[in-house]
Amino acid sequence: MSTEGPAVEFRDITRTFGATVALNSVSLSIAAGEVHALVGENGAGKSTLGKLLAGIIPPDSGEIMLAGRPEVLGSPRQALSAGVTMIAQELSLVPERSVLENVFLGIEPHRGPWVRRRELRDRFDALVRQSGISVPANALVGSLRIGEQQKVEILRALARDARVIVMDEPTARLSLQETAVLLESVRTLRERGTTIVFVSHFLEEVLQIADTVTIMRDARVVRSGPAAMETKQSLIEAMTGRPLDAMFPPRVYPSSEAPDVLRVESLSRAGHFADVSFNVRAGEIVVLSGLVGSGRSEILQAIYGASPADSGSMYLGGTPFDPKHVRNAIANGLALIPESRKDLGLILGASVADNITLPYLADVERAGLISWRREAAVARTRMTTVGVKAASPQAPVTTLSGGNQQKVLFARSLVRTPVLLLADEPTRGVDVGAKRSIYDLISDLAKEGMGVLVVSSEIEEVMGLAHRIVVMHQGRIAAQFNAQETEESAVISAAFGKLGAAS
Ligand SMILES: Nc1ncnc2c1ncn2[C@@H]1O[C@H](COP(=O)(O)OP(=O)(O)OP(=O)(O)O)[C@@H](O)[C@H]1O
Ligand SMILES: [Mg+2]
Repeated sequence: MSTEGPAVEFRDITRTFGATVALNSVSLSIAAGEVHALVGENGAGKSTLGKLLAGIIPPDSGEIMLAGRPEVLGSPRQALSAGVTMIAQELSLVPERSVLENVFLGIEPHRGPWVRRRELRDRFDALVRQSGISVPANALVGSLRIGEQQKVEILRALARDARVIVMDEPTARLSLQETAVLLESVRTLRERGTTIVFVSHFLEEVLQIADTVTIMRDARVVRSGPAAMETKQSLIEAMTGRPLDAMFPPRVYPSSEAPDVLRVESLSRAGHFADVSFNVRAGEIVVLSGLVGSGRSEILQAIYGASPADSGSMYLGGTPFDPKHVRNAIANGLALIPESRKDLGLILGASVADNITLPYLADVERAGLISWRREAAVARTRMTTVGVKAASPQAPVTTLSGGNQQKVLFARSLVRTPVLLLADEPTRGVDVGAKRSIYDLISDLAKEGMGVLVVSSEIEEVMGLAHRIVVMHQGRIAAQFNAQETEESAVISAAFGKLGAAS
């Protein structure tokens, strides 16, 4: 194929959505058999470029060449028959079917009206052997972890003979271990000659896996070149168009008299966490660290009344607090930004403003009528605080880029200024610039006296943001650290259950 020119070439592609220019005269060439990363801030146009290639949407103007020939990719089916497919930011599998069925859905070998099961199974085994990507054939897809589901998507693409696979933020929802496995799969695919377009906000990951990196900013390509020539810093500067700021705002510790906002004593929930005790003071940022599955999210869920603890006690501002429902928690001044925001909580048919204010209708209601003007005003204020980029508050939330959809949920959690903000992986899937603005926001909220409890898996974030670090290991607190008096290595050791780490 290399004799036929690059695997993919975009020539002067423009694509708009109403007044928004998503791609502005983009020209870009992707060599056959390489891992080609696309990086850029939220809304830069990365997913749009992927969708054009996968035939999901057409360009307004410009040309796409595959292996040196112009192609019209009018539908995902057409793209697939030209050898291109995309693994989207949201997965598209059928959860109640088996792995085998999902992999061959729509392309099953038939004899007359009957699917040839034996042949299907043989093909599956061959696919697993060739690709080195293995998933149990008969498992129900809905019962698999997200990392495993992603492997099913890859096998599905390979079963359809895809030679170019677009992966849009494939690791955004994976644990460290799952990410390692996925990156290994990508390397295996490259060895087989598959071309991979890899969209990611994890720049370390990009530098590790990519042969070539293309940086996008404001609908244009800034530059495209060998990954070996880039550093994390050079990427960030090109993405944001300005020199690198410090990643984290200066730490402002609460005063020594600051009262406890939250106190948790011997909290337990069978099978999830046991004997957990800690406190969060007014103005304090406490980060729950630890490996995925160590019980951190479950603790947030218990405090938020979503899945209550079995035993132990909690105090909010010194008063006993035993939320049985999320409603109780909200009424007491708690707010939660959930993990995996794509599945939890966005009302996809509704506008940005509705998504921010709907759960808090009482605050914008007047005599039983919703004041649209007031709603828009509340929404607009919160959009500004969080930095949501949208055409207007009335724009459908589905028209926002992935990262901006996440910020909408952040904006929602702040409609009623909470006393305690719970945030589960608050910067997953947002770009570096937006990360800094979320850190600023959290830091400002704390300065105003809010208690903040964050779950984070990014060690850099744990070290940079926290006042205090509570490390979980297998459902129990393994150690607590004052962030200024500890080292990254001590936190990591504690997360892996290796102590000595002092508290
Ligand atoms: N269907 C749509 N309708 C209207 N506007 C859209 C639509 N899809 C994308 N856009 C707009 O086009 C621009 C580019 O969006 P795109 O999804 O390509 O960004 P992205 O680089 O993938 O961002 P992220 O990192 O947040 O996923 C954004 O301003 C977005 O709001
Ligand atoms: Mg995107």
